[in-house]
Amino acid sequence: MSIHKEVKRVTTHVLQKMKEDGEKISMLTAYDFSMARIFDDAGMDVILVGDSASNVMAGHETTLPITLDQMIYHASSVVRAIRRSFVVVDLPFGSYQGNSKEALSSAIRIMKETGAHGIKIEGGEEIIESVKRIISSGVPVMGHLGLTPQSIYKFGTYAVRATEEAEAQKLLKDALLLQEAGCFAIVLEKIPALLGKQVAESLHIPTIGIGAGKYVDGQVLVMHDMLGINKEFKPRFLRRYLNLYEDIYNATRQYINDVKGQDFPNENEQY
Ligand code: KIV
Repeated sequence: MSIHKEVKRVTTHVLQKMKEDGEKISMLTAYDFSMARIFDDAGMDVILVGDSASNVMAGHETTLPITLDQMIYHASSVVRAIRRSFVVVDLPFGSYQGNSKEALSSAIRIMKETGAHGIKIEGGEEIIESVKRIISSGVPVMGHLGLTPQSIYKFGTYAVRATEEAEAQKLLKDALLLQEAGCFAIVLEKIPALLGKQVAESLHIPTIGIGAGKYVDGQVLVMHDMLGINKEFKPRFLRRYLNLYEDIYNATRQYINDVKGQDFPNENEQY
């Protein structure tokens, strides 16, 4: 069901309308022009230039090392491909935690230098001043609660968050604060489905889940996981739509064999 597929440009208003009309929001990460063009052509509502680029594009163990300049490079490549989707860019670790002025200048660099439509920021109460300051400058902000990978060394594990009542209550409170501050949507990562339901029902803005169950207002996945480019990463929440690792591996093997066996190029593949 896609009530809003005829929309020429997805905006924060369209996303809000989707929540109100009960249409689930589709969101996927992208980090380069070619993949972003395919996702946009396919009708993706939101494309996230996630700091997961640190893992899947650069090979780091965590999202911490990626820089603002590197995020800007990925985001501007993505934005050049886009005709319809709403593009959100992560504020990377170290680009906003100092104070709200630093957060605002990082957000402004992203908006000015990439042409993206909004930013995403991890955290609740502790970053609320920064969220307010960015929004007051006119930049749409998406929150991110639950498992926030930039805090992985504080958590010590990638396990499901907010399974205990105290953390669940804090998450709900943070979600309400982010909504009150003016966020247009919130990502909920790796939390129990019933908590996802409670948050989605308590907020009037959209909630977008990754491992947050089926009751939230939309779903997001990392493209490498969804397309099966990563073989090792197999969390319970992940549905793989392709097995691209195998396909690319086999095609690569075939190409090597064709070159070595002098099968490629043939008569029709030369001038
Ligand atoms: O960086 C990212 O890809 C994300 C998603 C996991 C939501 O933040």
